[in-house]
Amino acid sequence: MRAPKGLEGVIVTSTELTKIDGQAGRLIYRGYDVTELAGNVSYESVAHLLWFGQLPTPPQLSELKLKLAASRNLPRIVEEFLKTVSGVAEPLSVLQTSVSLLGGLDISKKSSTIDSSIALSACLPTIIGGYYRVRHGEKPLAPRSDLGHAANYLYMLTGKVPKDQHVHALDAYFTLLADHSLGASTFVARVAASTLTDVYSAVVAAISTLKGPLHGGAPIYVWEMIQSIGKPERAAGWLRERLEKGERIMGFGHRVYRTEDPRSRVLKRLARQLVDPGLFNLAETVENEARQLLHQSHPDRPLDTNVEFYSSLVLHAVGIPPELFTSTFACARSVGWTAHIVEQLRDNRLFRPEAEYTGPPDQALRGKPETPAVS
Ligand code: COA
Repeated sequence: MRAPKGLEGVIVTSTELTKIDGQAGRLIYRGYDVTELAGNVSYESVAHLLWFGQLPTPPQLSELKLKLAASRNLPRIVEEFLKTVSGVAEPLSVLQTSVSLLGGLDISKKSSTIDSSIALSACLPTIIGGYYRVRHGEKPLAPRSDLGHAANYLYMLTGKVPKDQHVHALDAYFTLLADHSLGASTFVARVAASTLTDVYSAVVAAISTLKGPLHGGAPIYVWEMIQSIGKPERAAGWLRERLEKGERIMGFGHRVYRTEDPRSRVLKRLARQLVDPGLFNLAETVENEARQLLHQSHPDRPLDTNVEFYSSLVLHAVGIPPELFTSTFACARSVGWTAHIVEQLRDNRLFRPEAEYTGPPDQALRGKPETPAVS
């Protein structure tokens, strides 16, 4: 039996976390529509929903917020690592190696999976903020325990308490990106977890996977595309030229959605409220032209905006530099990855699929065999 390429349509596990209805364009976390959650409950509440199975009561929410705030500081060795490498290395590799280092420290080994998950998610903004500040010649900042997850992240980058509007938008972004069922990085996290490795190692594997432009690496390319097009009247020609060369339009298309990605709808609304009207108009023109051209080239395959298209505008508007777009996605998705790891471990069986062999048939060695090297 030949497996469909890219495992399209194959069900490899079951999950209580997230349901995607690709035909209707709906994304549901444990029964709640993500478009209703985003901006109406905090990201910390969504994290509680994914990690513990229900939205928190007020005391449960306070407890989780306290735990997250208490876990934001980095061990000295990770701070030193950031100071050493941030000037020369790109952000996702630094994030990945920092998480790996955290996992290698003894303190993490004593924790339960869920406590490690909380600690890991709490640390990511500190790592990214430290990376960014060192890279730009500034001192890393200590995290603020009086700020929520989104507000502290923005503070860690700029050293300023962010505007409420920016915190609200980033918090909604975090919720929208918190989980997406078996996206490539989450699948990889579950496969790694199924070997009974630790949470940190499984998340390192997920971060490597997120980095690719077909997954979480796209928003910087969307941003560069919009900047390179520059004016609405240039959009159609620019896009046509790229499609004629066989290139893909970043921020469009999805493996599961056959209509608009519901997260894109919310992000577009946020972008309209946040960015300069000229930039919004340019992005919307690019969106409309791309949709039309893609419809002409692929009339049978609906290709619409995915989460990355308007993410780039929202992240830019709240003050996240393009070089950190994918790291910020990792920050949001860390909750989903770890919730899936917890779920995987609850009823684990090692992932070990098989491959159809398509190499040469049996071959006989001819002539004098080589003398095997003896060490
Ligand atoms: N631009 C142009 N054509 C696209 C396209 C895009 N963004 N996305 C899909 N297509 C075309 C493919 O070229 C292919 O055409 P063909 O049948 O003529 O060869 C067809 O649509 C199906 O593509 P396929 O690669 O099988 O779809 P997929 O389900 O594997 O791909 C993505 C999903 C996300 C990888 C794909 O849509 C893509 O590369 N998008 C751009 C990158 C991006 O935005 N990534 C973020 C994802 S959240």
